[in-house]
Amino acid sequence: MLIRTKISYYFHIFAPAYSSIVTHMKEIRILDKNFREFITEKAIQERVDEIVRQMNTDLVGKDVVFLGILNGAFLFAADLFRRIELQVRISFVKLASYEGTSSSGTIKELIGWNEDIRNKTIVVIEDIVDTGNTLERIVDELIIRKVSEVKIATMLYKPQAYTKSIPLDYIGFEIPNDFVVGYGLDYDGYGRNLPSVYTLIH
Ligand code: IMP
Repeated sequence: MLIRTKISYYFHIFAPAYSSIVTHMKEIRILDKNFREFITEKAIQERVDEIVRQMNTDLVGKDVVFLGILNGAFLFAADLFRRIELQVRISFVKLASYEGTSSSGTIKELIGWNEDIRNKTIVVIEDIVDTGNTLERIVDELIIRKVSEVKIATMLYKPQAYTKSIPLDYIGFEIPNDFVVGYGLDYDGYGRNLPSVYTLIH
């Protein structure tokens, strides 16, 4: 109920005089910011289908664990998982920030490991790869845990922000370096439940 008071949905309909085509542009407000629909639910779900088709081929005969990165990847992970036609396990981990004693300040720790992943093919499932810092942290941890192979699946990828060289195996959409919400991604905790992806209106 709280979220209903925080997010308001409304439509703007622009009908340019020079055209009979009416463009429906969906905008939402979350807290103090306005967002415009950027990737529709239909486009996302079609892309999920394509990615799963590829996974069904690539992962045949492997001992696979999907590793969803909380919180953002829970929707993408669920959509992939319910469509995959192979026997695959799923687990989730979370990067928790805490104030460390080192001079570097905040330290991120990966919590929630409850699966034996040694010698397995791990498919890391991310909502978004931005700078790649999170991804690098996770991949380092997987190497320490002696997995046999790591593949990366991310729904969104910001190539202009990416600073790492870890190859991304499955990418939903490459997007500009702008702030987005929806399909698992949040603004200050809100917007994760939106089935489409929305971009910030500047
Ligand atoms: P990284 O910079 O690749 O490590 O991304 C870190 C995290 O920042 C992601 O897992 C997201 O949770 C969050 N993030 C990055 N870009 C966005 C965005 O555009 N909207 C919402 N969250 C984002």
